[in-house]
Amino acid sequence: MKDLNFLLERNRLWADGIKQSDPQFFSKLSAQQSPEYLWIGCSDSRVPANQIVGLLPGEVFVHRNIANLVVHSDLNCLSVIQFAVEVLKVKHIIVCGHYECGGVRAALENSDHGLIDNWLRHIKDIYRVHQVQMEATSSAQEKQDRLCEINVIEQVANVCHTTVVQNAWKAGQQLTVHGWIYSVGDGILKDLKVSITGADEIADIHRLA
Ligand code: CO
Repeated sequence: MKDLNFLLERNRLWADGIKQSDPQFFSKLSAQQSPEYLWIGCSDSRVPANQIVGLLPGEVFVHRNIANLVVHSDLNCLSVIQFAVEVLKVKHIIVCGHYECGGVRAALENSDHGLIDNWLRHIKDIYRVHQVQMEATSSAQEKQDRLCEINVIEQVANVCHTTVVQNAWKAGQQLTVHGWIYSVGDGILKDLKVSITGADEIADIHRLA
């Protein structure tokens, strides 16, 4: 059986490097975490949250799943949002999608991918809502890129529709939800400029009185 000792060795080197620049780094972190950001991103190995924004352990709370979806019946994602907002009191939630997302690409196909199709159907639903815009695209690549972006915008809305986020706003908590997209081709993040800072910016049907 092949072991993974090389990874454990790299871990020691990594920890030693951090301790050399800040000997108290890990002891301070063991006492508490106080990240200002919740990152909701794709599981894709090319989009590691901390690394692409240059943040250290302790600086960003992270939830990742295939195609960075926020589904209102997904207890996993909702629990992460609740803990981040109510306990950690993060000031920003960043939904970060990426171009060349395999989940989005698979959702555009009509082939059978097995169980995962039940997850990807949420993306097909988004396609259907934006069908006119989707079918106005001039190439398969443009359609895929646009769906990656629209998916982020829809997930920003889904975050804002949660009772957790709306109750935080109602309580006067400062909380902004952002939509970003990452290019795996050049490592650059783009702000989709769809940030939402309060319940007055969401659709009436979803706003809690
Ligand atoms: Co992806």
